[in-house]
Amino acid sequence: MTTITIANAGRHDGQEVTIRGWLYNLRESGKLLFPIFRDGTGIIQGVCSLKESPDAFNALKGLTQESSVIVTGKIRAEQRAPGGYEIGITGIQVVQKVPEATPFPIQLKEHGVDFLLDQRHLWIRTPRQAAILRIRAQAVKSARDFMDAQGYTLTDAPMFTPAACEGTTTLFEVNYIDDQKAFLTQSGQLYIEATAMALGKVYTFGPTFRAEKSKTRRHLTEFWMLEPEAAYAGLDDMMELGEGLVSAIVQGVVKHRSRELETLKRDVKKLENIKAPFPRITYEEAVAVLQKNGNPTKFGDDFGGDEETVISRSFDRPVMVHHYPSAIKAFYMQPDAQRPDLALSFDMLAPEGYGEIIGGSQRIHDFDLLVQRLKQNNLPEEAFQWYLDLRRYGSVPHAGFGLGLERTVAWICGTEHIREVIPFPRMLYRVYP
Ligand code: 4AD
Ligand code: MG
Repeated sequence: MTTITIANAGRHDGQEVTIRGWLYNLRESGKLLFPIFRDGTGIIQGVCSLKESPDAFNALKGLTQESSVIVTGKIRAEQRAPGGYEIGITGIQVVQKVPEATPFPIQLKEHGVDFLLDQRHLWIRTPRQAAILRIRAQAVKSARDFMDAQGYTLTDAPMFTPAACEGTTTLFEVNYIDDQKAFLTQSGQLYIEATAMALGKVYTFGPTFRAEKSKTRRHLTEFWMLEPEAAYAGLDDMMELGEGLVSAIVQGVVKHRSRELETLKRDVKKLENIKAPFPRITYEEAVAVLQKNGNPTKFGDDFGGDEETVISRSFDRPVMVHHYPSAIKAFYMQPDAQRPDLALSFDMLAPEGYGEIIGGSQRIHDFDLLVQRLKQNNLPEEAFQWYLDLRRYGSVPHAGFGLGLERTVAWICGTEHIREVIPFPRMLYRVYP
């Protein structure tokens, strides 16, 4: 007997097959049972009759939700069934029966979010959560395929670091071996600046950590970031790379995960539209947009979530805001030659209120200016000696950015909060399960 996956059931129309999975739901109607099975690739409805398959009927009757089962039966087209096929059951092998005394905690009804987050290890079994995780995986694949095709080499940055990259207020300190101090990385940027000087065009893609005290729908304490870095590159090169990357991710998901987007009831038209080039406006133009909308922001203020939402509302695709004031940006950003109070920086803001998905800039390549910025930011020069070496030995203009995976996937999926798009979210008050 051929073992198949539910996603491929349509290729076996009329055949007797085996499906290995779990009982998702069971409707009983006299001498007929209508179970729904899931196997991780999809769900399929089954029909089991007492008259035709008494053994299977008795094994299935009263079986508890999420019991693991191996099902045999005949696949047949059924227009009304989810997925378009159903299985006429002839055999059931129960691998483990969920005890009646301890039923699966997540029923097919609405539950509160805190409850679901406590049950995250089980919540991911539900079709909506599984669809989101599959879209996340596709986003990663499309992103990496794009970067590789652009000639960027993956060079992984370390998680343990001796110093801050994105400000000292959101650092996680770790007790490293023998009382040495270390921090969890906030960004792999400083390290890929080094690998960029070695290989030219590089990227890193891994977890990053921020001890953010922010309790918003856009913040995690552990999130994944894809960061490209290129030698002999500037701000415009990175804006072009950023819009290409985001277009490739969105179009990859639209192409390969349409079924999952449908499960999420996502408006795919809005995503199909996401193609480079993206609009670009300066920080000063963005401030003007805000003021026109009655927002009190003035030159020199940073944008919060509300401001980002107002700015992005005028566009049907992500917008890139560039040339922020240096004073509100990170220590390493190269000042504009004509306007030294502005940094050669950009943020990409996603549509539909999802906020900043990319932050990037050209980096300071001048030794003296970088030392001055370290001092101004009270950063320990000792810990940055290796970073200063990059300005001692063949320094060149270079640039890069960081794309937040979860914010990007949350926007693509249209989820309310980014906690749903990572298998096990880490947030202000949550490190369980
Ligand atoms: O703008 P950020 O802080 O930039 C950097 O870390 C640079 N060193 C990147 C670089 O140039 N190589 O963060 C980059 C992106 C943000 O645009 C956002 O999408 C995401 O990372 N991000 C977060 N995502 C979830 N939770 C948080 N707490 C995040 N903080 C940043
Ligand atoms: Mg930023």
